[in-house]
Amino acid sequence: MTDNLSSSPTPSSPGVSRLNARVIGICVAAALGGFLFGFDTAVINGAVDALSDHYSLNAFLKGFAVSSALIGCALGAWFAGPVANRMGRVPVMLIAAVLFVVSALGSGLAFHIIDFIIWRVIGGLGVGAASVIAPAYIAEVSPASVRGRLGSLQQLAIVTGIFVALLSDSWFAGIAGGAAETLWMGLAAWRWMFMAEAVPAVIYGLFAFRLPESPRFLVARGDYDKASQVLYDFTGIVNVNLKIEEIRATIDSEKRESFRDLLGPRLGLKPIVWIGIMLSVFQQFVGINVIFYYSTTLWRTIGFQESDALKITVITSVTNIVVTIVAILLVDKVGRRPMLLVGSVFMTLSLGLMALAFSFATVHGDEVTLDAPWAPIALVAANLFVVAFGATWGPLVWVLLGEMFPNRIRAGALAVAAAAQWVANFFISTTFPVFSDIGLTFAYGFYAVCALASLVFVFLKVPETKGKELEDMENLAVER
Ligand code: GLC
Repeated sequence: MTDNLSSSPTPSSPGVSRLNARVIGICVAAALGGFLFGFDTAVINGAVDALSDHYSLNAFLKGFAVSSALIGCALGAWFAGPVANRMGRVPVMLIAAVLFVVSALGSGLAFHIIDFIIWRVIGGLGVGAASVIAPAYIAEVSPASVRGRLGSLQQLAIVTGIFVALLSDSWFAGIAGGAAETLWMGLAAWRWMFMAEAVPAVIYGLFAFRLPESPRFLVARGDYDKASQVLYDFTGIVNVNLKIEEIRATIDSEKRESFRDLLGPRLGLKPIVWIGIMLSVFQQFVGINVIFYYSTTLWRTIGFQESDALKITVITSVTNIVVTIVAILLVDKVGRRPMLLVGSVFMTLSLGLMALAFSFATVHGDEVTLDAPWAPIALVAANLFVVAFGATWGPLVWVLLGEMFPNRIRAGALAVAAAAQWVANFFISTTFPVFSDIGLTFAYGFYAVCALASLVFVFLKVPETKGKELEDMENLAVER
Protein backbone atom coordinates (compact mmCIF):
# COMPACT_ATOMS: atom_id res chain seq x y z
CA MET A 1 0.00 0.00 0.00
CA THR A 2 2.95 2.27 0.45
CA ASP A 3 4.62 1.34 -2.83
CA ASN A 4 3.61 4.40 -4.82
CA LEU A 5 5.23 6.89 -2.49
CA SER A 6 6.84 9.39 -4.82
CA SER A 7 9.39 10.82 -2.42
CA SER A 8 10.29 10.38 1.21
CA PRO A 9 8.46 12.62 3.64
CA THR A 10 9.99 16.07 3.60
CA PRO A 11 8.38 18.23 6.24
CA SER A 12 8.33 21.92 5.53
CA SER A 13 5.32 23.88 6.77
CA PRO A 14 3.35 23.27 9.99
CA GLY A 15 1.28 20.08 10.07
CA VAL A 16 -1.70 20.59 7.82
CA SER A 17 -4.02 17.68 7.27
CA ARG A 18 -6.75 17.19 4.72
CA LEU A 19 -9.35 14.58 3.99
CA ASN A 20 -8.16 12.38 1.14
CA ALA A 21 -9.52 9.31 -0.58
CA ARG A 22 -6.85 7.03 0.88
CA VAL A 23 -7.64 7.81 4.50
CA ILE A 24 -11.36 7.37 3.78
CA GLY A 25 -10.53 4.02 2.16
CA ILE A 26 -8.63 2.62 5.12
CA CYS A 27 -11.27 3.90 7.57
CA VAL A 28 -14.04 2.23 5.58
CA ALA A 29 -12.04 -1.01 5.55
CA ALA A 30 -11.51 -0.84 9.32
CA ALA A 31 -15.19 0.01 9.84
CA LEU A 32 -16.14 -3.30 8.18
CA GLY A 33 -15.47 -4.70 11.65
CA GLY A 34 -18.52 -2.67 12.72
CA PHE A 35 -20.55 -4.26 9.91
CA LEU A 36 -19.74 -7.70 11.30
CA PHE A 37 -20.53 -6.43 14.83
CA GLY A 38 -24.01 -5.38 13.64
CA PHE A 39 -24.57 -8.48 11.50
CA ASP A 40 -23.49 -10.91 14.21
CA THR A 41 -25.63 -9.36 16.95
CA ALA A 42 -28.74 -9.16 14.73
CA VAL A 43 -28.52 -12.45 12.77
CA ILE A 44 -29.97 -14.43 15.68
CA ASN A 45 -33.30 -12.52 15.36
CA GLY A 46 -34.62 -14.44 12.38
CA ALA A 47 -33.21 -17.77 13.57
CA VAL A 48 -34.08 -17.90 17.24
CA ASP A 49 -37.53 -19.51 17.04
CA ALA A 50 -36.40 -22.20 14.60
CA LEU A 51 -33.35 -22.83 16.74
CA SER A 52 -35.50 -23.15 19.82
CA ASP A 53 -37.81 -25.70 18.10
CA HIS A 54 -34.90 -27.65 16.62
CA TYR A 55 -33.14 -28.11 19.97
CA SER A 56 -36.37 -28.11 22.06
CA LEU A 57 -35.11 -25.26 24.22
CA ASN A 58 -36.78 -24.08 27.39
CA ALA A 59 -37.20 -20.32 28.00
CA PHE A 60 -33.92 -20.06 29.91
CA LEU A 61 -31.84 -21.85 27.25
CA LYS A 62 -33.52 -19.85 24.51
CA GLY A 63 -32.59 -16.59 26.24
CA PHE A 64 -29.09 -17.86 26.88
CA ALA A 65 -28.64 -18.96 23.25
CA VAL A 66 -29.37 -15.33 22.30
CA SER A 67 -27.35 -13.55 24.97
CA SER A 68 -24.37 -15.92 25.26
CA ALA A 69 -22.62 -14.13 22.38
CA LEU A 70 -22.62 -10.95 24.50
CA ILE A 71 -20.40 -12.68 27.09
CA GLY A 72 -17.92 -13.39 24.29
CA CYS A 73 -18.21 -9.73 23.23
CA ALA A 74 -17.23 -8.47 26.71
CA LEU A 75 -14.24 -10.86 26.83
CA GLY A 76 -13.19 -10.05 23.27
CA ALA A 77 -13.27 -6.31 24.03
CA TRP A 78 -11.29 -6.78 27.25
CA PHE A 79 -8.50 -8.80 25.58
CA ALA A 80 -8.34 -6.68 22.42
CA GLY A 81 -6.56 -3.90 24.37
CA PRO A 82 -3.47 -5.84 25.49
CA VAL A 83 -3.24 -7.68 22.13
CA ALA A 84 -3.47 -4.37 20.21
CA ASN A 85 -0.67 -2.94 22.35
CA ARG A 86 1.59 -5.94 21.97
CA MET A 87 1.00 -7.02 18.37
CA GLY A 88 -0.58 -3.97 16.74
CA ARG A 89 -4.01 -2.83 15.61
CA VAL A 90 -4.08 -4.74 12.31
CA PRO A 91 -3.37 -8.21 13.80
CA VAL A 92 -6.41 -7.73 16.09
CA MET A 93 -8.56 -7.19 12.97
CA LEU A 94 -7.13 -10.34 11.37
CA ILE A 95 -7.79 -12.39 14.51
CA ALA A 96 -11.36 -11.01 14.65
CA ALA A 97 -11.92 -11.97 10.98
CA VAL A 98 -10.82 -15.55 11.67
CA LEU A 99 -13.09 -15.73 14.74
CA PHE A 100 -16.04 -14.51 12.62
CA VAL A 101 -15.47 -17.14 9.93
CA VAL A 102 -15.06 -19.97 12.46
CA SER A 103 -18.16 -18.88 14.38
CA ALA A 104 -20.29 -18.46 11.23
CA LEU A 105 -19.53 -21.95 9.97
CA GLY A 106 -19.62 -23.55 13.43
CA SER A 107 -22.97 -22.01 14.44
CA GLY A 108 -24.47 -22.90 11.06
CA LEU A 109 -23.34 -26.53 11.25
CA ALA A 110 -23.81 -27.01 15.03
CA PHE A 111 -25.17 -30.41 16.01
CA HIS A 112 -26.07 -29.63 19.63
CA ILE A 113 -27.12 -26.52 21.56
CA ILE A 114 -23.90 -26.71 23.63
CA ASP A 115 -21.58 -26.44 20.65
CA PHE A 116 -23.91 -23.83 19.09
CA ILE A 117 -23.43 -21.65 22.18
CA ILE A 118 -19.64 -22.19 22.07
CA TRP A 119 -19.54 -21.10 18.40
CA ARG A 120 -21.63 -18.03 19.20
CA VAL A 121 -19.30 -17.09 22.08
CA ILE A 122 -16.35 -17.41 19.67
CA GLY A 123 -18.12 -15.01 17.28
CA GLY A 124 -18.75 -12.73 20.26
CA LEU A 125 -15.00 -12.62 20.92
CA GLY A 126 -14.61 -11.30 17.37
CA VAL A 127 -17.41 -8.73 17.82
CA GLY A 128 -15.87 -7.48 21.07
CA ALA A 129 -12.42 -7.20 19.49
CA ALA A 130 -13.82 -5.40 16.42
CA SER A 131 -15.78 -3.02 18.67
CA VAL A 132 -12.50 -1.87 20.22
CA ILE A 133 -10.17 -1.91 17.29
CA ALA A 134 -12.27 -0.10 14.66
CA PRO A 135 -12.73 3.14 16.67
CA ALA A 136 -9.13 3.08 17.94
CA TYR A 137 -7.66 2.54 14.49
CA ILE A 138 -9.92 5.09 12.77
CA ALA A 139 -9.12 7.76 15.36
CA GLU A 140 -5.40 7.02 15.07
CA VAL A 141 -5.23 7.45 11.29
CA SER A 142 -7.71 10.33 10.88
CA PRO A 143 -6.90 14.04 10.55
CA ALA A 144 -8.33 15.85 13.62
CA SER A 145 -10.65 18.08 11.57
CA VAL A 146 -12.67 15.15 10.18
CA ARG A 147 -12.09 12.54 12.89
CA GLY A 148 -15.73 12.68 14.06
CA ARG A 149 -17.03 11.94 10.57
CA LEU A 150 -14.62 9.10 9.97
CA GLY A 151 -15.25 7.71 13.47
CA SER A 152 -19.00 7.73 12.81
CA LEU A 153 -18.39 5.30 9.93
CA GLN A 154 -18.16 2.64 12.63
CA GLN A 155 -21.78 3.24 13.67
CA LEU A 156 -22.87 3.47 10.02
CA ALA A 157 -21.28 0.06 9.50
CA ILE A 158 -22.92 -1.36 12.66
CA VAL A 159 -26.42 -0.25 11.70
CA THR A 160 -25.92 -1.37 8.08
CA GLY A 161 -24.80 -4.75 9.44
CA ILE A 162 -27.99 -4.98 11.53
CA PHE A 163 -30.09 -4.13 8.48
CA VAL A 164 -28.32 -6.59 6.14
CA ALA A 165 -28.62 -9.39 8.72
CA LEU A 166 -32.38 -8.80 8.98
CA LEU A 167 -32.68 -8.82 5.17
CA SER A 168 -30.49 -11.88 4.79
CA ASP A 169 -32.51 -13.74 7.45
CA SER A 170 -35.77 -13.06 5.66
CA TRP A 171 -34.20 -13.88 2.29
CA PHE A 172 -33.04 -17.32 3.46
CA ALA A 173 -36.40 -17.98 5.12
CA GLY A 174 -38.05 -16.91 1.84
CA ILE A 175 -36.06 -19.15 -0.51
CA ALA A 176 -36.53 -22.08 1.86
CA GLY A 177 -40.30 -21.70 1.49
CA GLY A 178 -41.12 -19.06 4.08
CA ALA A 179 -39.82 -20.44 7.36
CA ALA A 180 -36.47 -20.56 9.14
CA GLU A 181 -36.77 -24.31 9.86
CA THR A 182 -37.50 -25.47 6.31
CA LEU A 183 -34.72 -26.96 4.20
CA TRP A 184 -32.80 -25.31 1.40
CA MET A 185 -30.10 -27.33 -0.40
CA GLY A 186 -30.28 -29.97 2.31
CA LEU A 187 -29.83 -27.60 5.28
CA ALA A 188 -32.39 -25.67 7.35
CA ALA A 189 -32.65 -21.98 6.44
CA TRP A 190 -31.57 -20.89 9.95
CA ARG A 191 -28.22 -22.65 9.39
CA TRP A 192 -27.65 -20.66 6.19
CA MET A 193 -28.45 -17.44 8.08
CA PHE A 194 -25.43 -17.99 10.34
CA MET A 195 -23.16 -19.31 7.60
CA ALA A 196 -23.84 -16.23 5.45
CA GLU A 197 -21.71 -14.20 7.88
CA ALA A 198 -18.60 -16.00 6.59
CA VAL A 199 -18.81 -13.92 3.37
CA PRO A 200 -18.37 -10.43 4.92
CA ALA A 201 -15.92 -11.96 7.42
CA VAL A 202 -13.60 -13.15 4.63
CA ILE A 203 -13.87 -9.76 2.88
CA TYR A 204 -13.02 -8.01 6.16
CA GLY A 205 -9.98 -10.27 6.63
CA LEU A 206 -8.75 -9.59 3.08
CA PHE A 207 -9.08 -5.83 3.55
CA ALA A 208 -7.45 -5.94 6.97
CA PHE A 209 -4.52 -7.78 5.42
CA ARG A 210 -3.86 -4.76 3.20
CA LEU A 211 -4.21 -2.08 5.89
CA PRO A 212 -1.18 -0.11 7.09
CA GLU A 213 -0.44 -0.31 10.81
CA SER A 214 -1.54 2.66 12.95
CA PRO A 215 1.17 5.37 13.12
CA ARG A 216 0.57 5.81 16.87
CA PHE A 217 1.28 2.12 17.46
CA LEU A 218 4.37 2.28 15.23
CA VAL A 219 5.74 5.25 17.20
CA ALA A 220 5.07 3.44 20.48
CA ARG A 221 7.16 0.56 19.11
CA GLY A 222 9.94 2.91 18.03
CA ASP A 223 9.35 2.26 14.32
CA TYR A 224 9.57 5.93 13.27
CA ASP A 225 10.32 5.38 9.58
CA LYS A 226 7.25 3.27 9.01
CA ALA A 227 5.15 5.66 11.11
CA SER A 228 6.29 8.62 8.96
CA GLN A 229 5.49 6.71 5.83
CA VAL A 230 1.94 5.90 6.96
CA LEU A 231 1.33 9.48 8.12
CA TYR A 232 2.65 10.83 4.86
CA ASP A 233 0.81 8.37 2.64
CA PHE A 234 -2.55 8.36 4.31
CA THR A 235 -3.20 11.34 6.54
CA GLY A 236 -2.14 14.22 4.31
CA ILE A 237 -0.10 15.70 7.18
CA VAL A 238 2.62 17.92 5.72
CA ASN A 239 5.02 18.20 8.63
CA VAL A 240 5.40 14.52 9.38
CA ASN A 241 8.50 14.83 11.56
CA LEU A 242 6.84 17.36 13.82
CA LYS A 243 3.85 15.06 14.17
CA ILE A 244 6.09 12.10 15.04
CA GLU A 245 7.77 14.24 17.71
CA GLU A 246 4.37 15.20 19.14
CA ILE A 247 3.21 11.59 19.24
CA ARG A 248 6.51 10.54 20.77
CA ALA A 249 6.18 13.13 23.52
CA THR A 250 2.88 11.57 24.57
CA ILE A 251 4.18 8.00 24.64
CA ASP A 252 6.96 6.86 26.90
CA SER A 253 8.19 4.14 24.56
CA GLU A 254 10.71 2.82 27.07
CA LYS A 255 7.94 1.52 29.26
CA ARG A 256 5.47 -1.09 28.09
CA GLU A 257 1.87 -0.07 28.70
CA SER A 258 0.17 -2.03 31.45
CA PHE A 259 -3.14 -2.04 33.26
CA ARG A 260 -1.49 0.12 35.95
CA ASP A 261 -1.40 3.02 33.46
CA LEU A 262 -5.19 3.18 33.66
CA LEU A 263 -5.13 3.73 37.40
CA GLY A 264 -5.58 7.16 38.94
CA PRO A 265 -5.14 8.67 42.38
CA ARG A 266 -8.76 8.21 43.44
CA LEU A 267 -11.60 5.81 42.55
CA GLY A 268 -9.18 3.18 41.21
CA LEU A 269 -9.22 4.25 37.57
CA LYS A 270 -8.22 7.56 35.96
CA PRO A 271 -11.20 9.98 35.72
CA ILE A 272 -11.11 9.87 31.90
CA VAL A 273 -11.42 6.05 31.97
CA TRP A 274 -14.46 6.38 34.25
CA ILE A 275 -15.98 8.86 31.79
CA GLY A 276 -15.50 6.32 28.99
CA ILE A 277 -17.12 3.57 31.08
CA MET A 278 -20.08 5.78 32.00
CA LEU A 279 -20.63 6.88 28.38
CA SER A 280 -20.75 3.20 27.44
CA VAL A 281 -23.12 2.28 30.26
CA PHE A 282 -25.51 5.15 29.51
CA GLN A 283 -25.46 4.30 25.79
CA GLN A 284 -26.86 0.88 26.70
CA PHE A 285 -29.02 1.83 29.70
CA VAL A 286 -31.28 4.02 27.56
CA GLY A 287 -32.51 0.69 26.19
CA ILE A 288 -31.70 0.99 22.47
CA ASN A 289 -31.11 -2.73 22.03
CA VAL A 290 -34.46 -3.57 23.59
CA ILE A 291 -35.90 -1.95 20.47
CA PHE A 292 -33.64 -4.00 18.19
CA TYR A 293 -33.77 -7.33 20.04
CA TYR A 294 -37.40 -7.37 21.19
CA SER A 295 -39.09 -5.05 18.71
CA THR A 296 -41.41 -7.68 17.26
CA THR A 297 -43.06 -8.16 20.66
CA LEU A 298 -43.28 -4.40 21.11
CA TRP A 299 -44.96 -3.73 17.77
CA ARG A 300 -47.41 -6.58 18.38
CA THR A 301 -48.39 -5.01 21.69
CA ILE A 302 -49.05 -1.83 19.77
CA GLY A 303 -51.46 -3.89 17.63
CA PHE A 304 -49.55 -5.02 14.54
CA GLN A 305 -49.60 -8.53 13.04
CA GLU A 306 -46.33 -10.50 13.27
CA SER A 307 -45.40 -9.99 9.59
CA ASP A 308 -46.01 -6.23 9.84
CA ALA A 309 -44.03 -6.14 13.07
CA LEU A 310 -41.01 -7.53 11.20
CA LYS A 311 -41.47 -4.91 8.48
CA ILE A 312 -41.52 -2.14 11.07
CA THR A 313 -38.28 -3.52 12.54
CA VAL A 314 -36.69 -3.29 9.09
CA ILE A 315 -38.03 0.27 8.62
CA THR A 316 -36.64 1.20 12.05
CA SER A 317 -33.21 -0.09 11.08
CA VAL A 318 -33.30 1.91 7.82
CA THR A 319 -34.23 5.01 9.87
CA ASN A 320 -31.22 4.27 12.03
CA ILE A 321 -28.96 4.22 8.95
CA VAL A 322 -30.36 7.51 7.62
CA VAL A 323 -29.95 9.38 10.90
CA THR A 324 -26.38 8.13 11.25
CA ILE A 325 -25.65 9.98 8.00
CA VAL A 326 -27.10 13.13 9.59
CA ALA A 327 -24.70 12.62 12.51
CA ILE A 328 -21.77 12.21 10.10
CA LEU A 329 -22.62 15.56 8.50
CA LEU A 330 -22.93 17.37 11.83
CA VAL A 331 -20.36 15.90 14.20
CA ASP A 332 -17.29 17.89 13.17
CA LYS A 333 -19.27 21.12 12.81
CA VAL A 334 -21.46 21.08 15.92
CA GLY A 335 -19.18 19.13 18.25
CA ARG A 336 -19.69 16.11 20.48
CA ARG A 337 -21.09 17.70 23.65
CA PRO A 338 -23.99 19.68 22.12
CA MET A 339 -25.07 16.67 20.08
CA LEU A 340 -25.01 14.34 23.10
CA LEU A 341 -26.96 16.88 25.18
CA VAL A 342 -29.65 17.33 22.51
CA GLY A 343 -29.80 13.53 22.09
CA SER A 344 -30.31 13.03 25.83
CA VAL A 345 -33.16 15.57 25.91
CA PHE A 346 -35.03 13.92 23.01
CA MET A 347 -34.37 10.41 24.31
CA THR A 348 -35.76 11.40 27.74
CA LEU A 349 -38.90 12.89 26.16
CA SER A 350 -39.56 10.01 23.76
CA LEU A 351 -38.92 7.31 26.36
CA GLY A 352 -41.06 9.22 28.86
CA LEU A 353 -43.85 9.35 26.28
CA MET A 354 -43.57 5.58 25.72
CA ALA A 355 -43.78 4.99 29.48
CA LEU A 356 -46.86 7.22 29.63
CA ALA A 357 -48.50 5.50 26.64
CA PHE A 358 -48.01 2.04 28.13
CA SER A 359 -49.64 3.12 31.38
CA PHE A 360 -52.91 2.99 29.35
CA ALA A 361 -52.30 -0.63 28.27
CA THR A 362 -54.73 -3.38 29.22
CA VAL A 363 -53.35 -6.70 30.46
CA HIS A 364 -55.19 -10.02 30.01
CA GLY A 365 -52.99 -12.81 31.35
CA ASP A 366 -49.81 -12.71 29.22
CA GLU A 367 -51.35 -10.42 26.61
CA VAL A 368 -50.68 -6.69 26.77
CA THR A 369 -52.66 -4.49 24.37
CA LEU A 370 -52.71 -0.80 23.71
CA ASP A 371 -55.59 1.06 22.10
CA ALA A 372 -55.85 4.33 20.14
CA PRO A 373 -54.76 7.04 20.61
CA TRP A 374 -51.94 5.61 22.75
CA ALA A 375 -50.89 2.90 20.28
CA PRO A 376 -49.87 5.35 17.50
CA ILE A 377 -48.36 7.66 20.10
CA ALA A 378 -46.16 4.80 21.38
CA LEU A 379 -45.16 3.88 17.81
CA VAL A 380 -44.16 7.47 16.99
CA ALA A 381 -42.36 7.86 20.33
CA ALA A 382 -40.35 4.63 19.78
CA ASN A 383 -39.22 5.80 16.35
CA LEU A 384 -38.43 9.27 17.67
CA PHE A 385 -36.25 7.56 20.27
CA VAL A 386 -34.39 5.63 17.54
CA VAL A 387 -33.87 8.90 15.64
CA ALA A 388 -32.61 10.73 18.75
CA PHE A 389 -30.25 7.88 19.64
CA GLY A 390 -29.09 7.15 16.10
CA ALA A 391 -28.19 10.78 15.36
CA THR A 392 -26.30 11.31 18.61
CA TRP A 393 -25.43 8.71 21.25
CA GLY A 394 -25.14 5.78 18.81
CA PRO A 395 -22.24 7.13 16.73
CA LEU A 396 -20.82 9.66 19.20
CA VAL A 397 -19.99 7.24 21.98
CA TRP A 398 -17.88 5.23 19.53
CA VAL A 399 -16.24 8.41 18.22
CA LEU A 400 -15.44 9.60 21.74
CA LEU A 401 -14.15 6.22 22.91
CA GLY A 402 -11.81 6.18 19.90
CA GLU A 403 -10.42 9.66 20.47
CA MET A 404 -10.77 10.83 24.07
CA PHE A 405 -8.01 8.79 25.72
CA PRO A 406 -4.35 9.85 25.63
CA ASN A 407 -2.16 7.92 23.16
CA ARG A 408 -0.45 5.92 25.86
CA ILE A 409 -3.58 4.37 27.29
CA ARG A 410 -5.94 4.44 24.29
CA ALA A 411 -6.17 0.74 23.48
CA GLY A 412 -6.36 -0.36 27.13
CA ALA A 413 -8.87 2.30 28.21
CA LEU A 414 -11.06 1.73 25.16
CA ALA A 415 -11.01 -2.01 25.84
CA VAL A 416 -12.19 -1.49 29.43
CA ALA A 417 -14.94 0.95 28.34
CA ALA A 418 -16.12 -1.32 25.51
CA ALA A 419 -16.15 -4.37 27.81
CA ALA A 420 -18.33 -2.32 30.21
CA GLN A 421 -20.62 -1.56 27.28
CA TRP A 422 -21.08 -5.26 26.49
CA VAL A 423 -21.79 -6.09 30.13
CA ALA A 424 -24.35 -3.24 30.22
CA ASN A 425 -25.86 -4.55 26.96
CA PHE A 426 -26.11 -8.06 28.50
CA PHE A 427 -27.76 -6.62 31.63
CA ILE A 428 -30.35 -4.61 29.70
CA SER A 429 -31.22 -7.36 27.24
CA THR A 430 -31.58 -10.08 29.86
CA THR A 431 -33.58 -7.92 32.30
CA PHE A 432 -36.07 -6.62 29.73
CA PRO A 433 -38.41 -9.65 29.98
CA VAL A 434 -38.40 -9.27 33.79
CA PHE A 435 -38.92 -5.49 33.58
CA SER A 436 -41.79 -5.88 31.12
CA ASP A 437 -43.43 -8.46 33.42
CA ILE A 438 -43.51 -5.73 36.04
CA GLY A 439 -44.95 -3.47 33.32
CA LEU A 440 -43.81 -1.72 30.15
CA THR A 441 -44.31 1.62 31.91
CA PHE A 442 -41.75 0.52 34.47
CA ALA A 443 -39.31 -0.64 31.75
CA TYR A 444 -39.51 2.53 29.64
CA GLY A 445 -39.71 4.71 32.76
CA PHE A 446 -36.39 3.20 33.87
CA TYR A 447 -34.77 3.89 30.46
CA ALA A 448 -36.19 7.46 30.53
CA VAL A 449 -34.63 8.09 33.97
CA CYS A 450 -31.29 6.78 32.61
CA ALA A 451 -31.60 9.14 29.60
CA LEU A 452 -32.19 12.05 31.97
CA ALA A 453 -29.18 11.00 34.07
CA SER A 454 -27.10 10.87 30.85
CA LEU A 455 -27.97 14.54 30.24
CA VAL A 456 -26.66 15.55 33.67
CA PHE A 457 -23.59 13.36 33.22
CA VAL A 458 -22.64 14.84 29.83
CA PHE A 459 -23.27 18.35 31.09
CA LEU A 460 -21.03 17.89 34.13
CA LYS A 461 -18.33 15.50 32.97
CA VAL A 462 -17.87 14.97 29.24
CA PRO A 463 -15.16 17.17 27.66
CA GLU A 464 -15.39 18.52 24.08
CA THR A 465 -12.90 16.82 21.76
CA LYS A 466 -13.94 18.35 18.42
CA GLY A 467 -10.95 19.45 16.34
CA LYS A 468 -8.39 18.56 19.04
CA GLU A 469 -5.28 16.58 18.10
CA LEU A 470 -5.00 13.13 19.73
CA GLU A 471 -1.74 14.43 21.20
CA ASP A 472 -3.73 17.06 23.14
CA MET A 473 -6.07 14.56 24.80
CA GLU A 474 -3.67 14.39 27.78
CA ASN A 475 -4.77 17.88 28.70
CA LEU A 476 -8.54 17.44 28.46
CA ALA A 477 -10.31 19.20 31.30
CA VAL A 478 -12.21 16.25 32.76
CA GLU A 479 -12.71 17.63 36.25
CA ARG A 480 -15.44 20.15 35.56
C1 GLC B 1 -24.61 1.42 19.02
C2 GLC B 1 -24.59 0.51 20.21
C3 GLC B 1 -25.10 -0.85 19.84
C4 GLC B 1 -26.47 -0.74 19.19
C5 GLC B 1 -26.42 0.20 18.00
C6 GLC B 1 -27.81 0.39 17.45
O1 GLC B 1 -23.65 1.00 18.12
O2 GLC B 1 -23.28 0.42 20.73
O3 GLC B 1 -25.19 -1.64 21.01
O4 GLC B 1 -26.93 -2.00 18.76
O5 GLC B 1 -25.88 1.44 18.40
O6 GLC B 1 -27.92 1.51 16.66
